[in-house]
Amino acid sequence: MTLDQSIDSNNTPEIHSSSVLVTGGAGFIGSHLVEALLDRGNHVTVIDDMSTGQQSNLQIEHDQLTLCTGTISAQLESVEPSFDFIFHLAAAVGVKLVVDEPIRTIETNVLETSKLLRFASLNKTPLLVASTSEVYGKSKALPMQEDGNLVFGSTEKSRWSYGCSKALDEHLAMAWFKRENLPVRIPRFFNTIGPRQRGSWGMVVPRFVVAALGGEPLVVYGDGSQTRCFCDVRDTVPMMLRLMTTNKSIGKAVNVGSDDSITILQLAELVRDTLNSNSKIEFKAMHDVYGDGFEDLQDRQPDLTRLHSMVGTRERIPIAKTINSIAASLACGTGNEQ
Ligand SMILES: NC(=O)c1ccc[n+]([C@@H]2O[C@H](COP(=O)([O-])OP(=O)(O)OC[C@H]3O[C@@H](n4cnc5c(N)ncnc54)[C@H](O)[C@@H]3O)[C@@H](O)[C@H]2O)c1
Repeated sequence: MTLDQSIDSNNTPEIHSSSVLVTGGAGFIGSHLVEALLDRGNHVTVIDDMSTGQQSNLQIEHDQLTLCTGTISAQLESVEPSFDFIFHLAAAVGVKLVVDEPIRTIETNVLETSKLLRFASLNKTPLLVASTSEVYGKSKALPMQEDGNLVFGSTEKSRWSYGCSKALDEHLAMAWFKRENLPVRIPRFFNTIGPRQRGSWGMVVPRFVVAALGGEPLVVYGDGSQTRCFCDVRDTVPMMLRLMTTNKSIGKAVNVGSDDSITILQLAELVRDTLNSNSKIEFKAMHDVYGDGFEDLQDRQPDLTRLHSMVGTRERIPIAKTINSIAASLACGTGNEQ
């Protein structure tokens, strides 16, 4: 392992000059992570099947980047297990995708993670498995704590398949840690936003930004009173890097995000005001969007005590700045802010 012992401002060693595998590296969060790893002089191998990711998210000409296009199971057949670190971000993501394609969601999230855990175990490679606030399901215990109960709805409602599949990933990763000493870390991302995120799979902020830029109505699903906490991906990535190098996070789930709550209606107004748009705000019933019986969560907010004890705290990018960055990236059509 070539983990550089230089220390960042939070007294955590930095990943530097290492060989790093990133699954889902052409996706939204993954591509920002790949960029940060390349900036730190690492060699990065990306495995991505481009199902929701895009090649244009990556600087494909970078000489320290190897892109393997295909599914994890297919690509692991030909990749040597000689990495210093593995970040596992590949997944079927997004409420709309999950509701529309539950088989793909479950199979991708569980079977591919299982294969990757086995691969990482060959050399006991440190592995970060991306999880989600969706594992809390319908829990009403706010703020959500990592050792709190996970409360899922009926299996008749396919929405829960995403959270359940990610919870199973967590159990599997924990089992590899406990039984085989595999050093796993499990960040549970809350809503993460920023340039390159696309609204096509139901992500609310890019959906609002696209509407506001085009003078179209911003459509709020439900009555807009539901609350969420949004964190800029450029704040998320340094937290992930630090989680990977602190021993405190081994074998632990940890909430990652912001704990600043905003209602979805306030978010729509903020997007419209920030972008000086004349768009109207309209409302649409959840069942008209996702079908009968869809269950949404009223409020979701992380307890960040565990995160802060592991990686410290630092000032976050304000949400209005993120909205402007997303708008700039969409306006230039590259997915990158200019
Ligand atoms: N964005 C968020 O707000 C958020 C919140 C919670 C959790 N997460 C988790 O973070 C991770 C990254 O999410 P994202 O928002 O960047 O989504 P994304 O859809 O942009 O990224 C997922 C990437 O995985 C790739 N992929 C999917 N199936 C694959 C397979 N079988 N083999 C190889 N590649 C495959 C996709 O092409 C895509 O590039 C996911 O694990 C997701 O569950 C994201």
